[in-house]
Amino acid sequence: MEDTQKHYIGGEIKKARQSSSIGLIIRQEGPTNLETPFDQVDSFLTPTELFYIRSHFPAPKLDLDSYQLRIDGAVRNPCSLSYKELRDMPSETRVATLECAGNGRVFLIPQVEGAQWELGAVGNAEWTGVPLGALLERAGMEEDACEIVLEGADQGTPVQKPKPPLPISYARSLPRDKAIQREVLIAYQMNDRDLPQDHGYPVRAIVPGHYGMASVKWLTHIHAVREPFQGYWQTSDYGYWDYLDGKPVRRALGEMKLKSEIARPTFYETLEPDQVYTVSGAAWAGETEVTEIAVSTDGGQTWAEAEFLDPVQRHAWRRWKFDWLTPKKPGRYTLLARAKDAKGGTQPDKHDQNYDTYVIDHPLPIEVFVGPKNGN
Ligand code: MTE
Repeated sequence: MEDTQKHYIGGEIKKARQSSSIGLIIRQEGPTNLETPFDQVDSFLTPTELFYIRSHFPAPKLDLDSYQLRIDGAVRNPCSLSYKELRDMPSETRVATLECAGNGRVFLIPQVEGAQWELGAVGNAEWTGVPLGALLERAGMEEDACEIVLEGADQGTPVQKPKPPLPISYARSLPRDKAIQREVLIAYQMNDRDLPQDHGYPVRAIVPGHYGMASVKWLTHIHAVREPFQGYWQTSDYGYWDYLDGKPVRRALGEMKLKSEIARPTFYETLEPDQVYTVSGAAWAGETEVTEIAVSTDGGQTWAEAEFLDPVQRHAWRRWKFDWLTPKKPGRYTLLARAKDAKGGTQPDKHDQNYDTYVIDHPLPIEVFVGPKNGN
């Protein structure tokens, strides 16, 4: 299936979208990087087949019979668990939204390098697995362990500089305080089925409230460390500039920022004048709850409150809708959605350069045409 629509985003004319056979938008074929068509999101849980895929290297093929999850480092009882041993442990099921930190990158002006994600590098799924905290308890984590490094079985040479001289694996650390929270899962199921290959089969981490890069797929190694981990995927990549006594310091991206996105209408859709059109979307936050959505249909001059479709559920998105009586006057209109959270936070007006090509959390403009659909 191919969508031949052309649209302007970020001042660029985007080429026709290429879609996979099941309707995901292809951002890169090898390694697999596929985007959810966000305008098709109409369920609380994103169907697994439509859930975006973000992989830096080819998916490794792990065999269930020989699979081992090693837990070592600053622990009293280093151990390895087979897949069966993991599945036999008490499990928990939780809903969590994963958003790739580069989601919405196509909206940055001027255009930046990297996968040109539109709105669909985000999804909401139900995950089942063993809390990471239970595994750390079993291994007897030492008091002085400050971070937990999660390492996947995939390996390769990253594309971004500075390139390491040898192939590296995908590894990220979590602060101890977050790692022991009940919601952090070592998961083996997604939406009630075993994880698909591209989503980390047989075992992955799920770190609710953090950007997707923290949820390490094809997990084979959990390593407790006594010094902050400075690996590639949290310094060179997935890092940002913070300021310490006025001096820039590099830190690892972590908690997701508050964000709302408009799913429908889509960019450059033509809407009938003087009709009620239901604008819809979803909003999510990191460690807090989304409490309010305001929608603007005039590029941010005026705002009106939208209605939530989903109740508050920590770490899960909330879909919302807003009935818009479209103007009688034909023309181009810019739609925006802005969320507020329980801590009094609101989305910023523009992208923060300290995050470079990540954390695109300002309200993203959706331009539409109001006028007769046949162009008369
Ligand atoms: N884990 C491994 N081992 N390798 C990866 O490339 N990509 C990360 C994360 N975990 C990645 C990984 C990134 S950047 C994101 S956004 C999420 O996985 C995406 O998870 P998904 O492909 O299941 O949607």
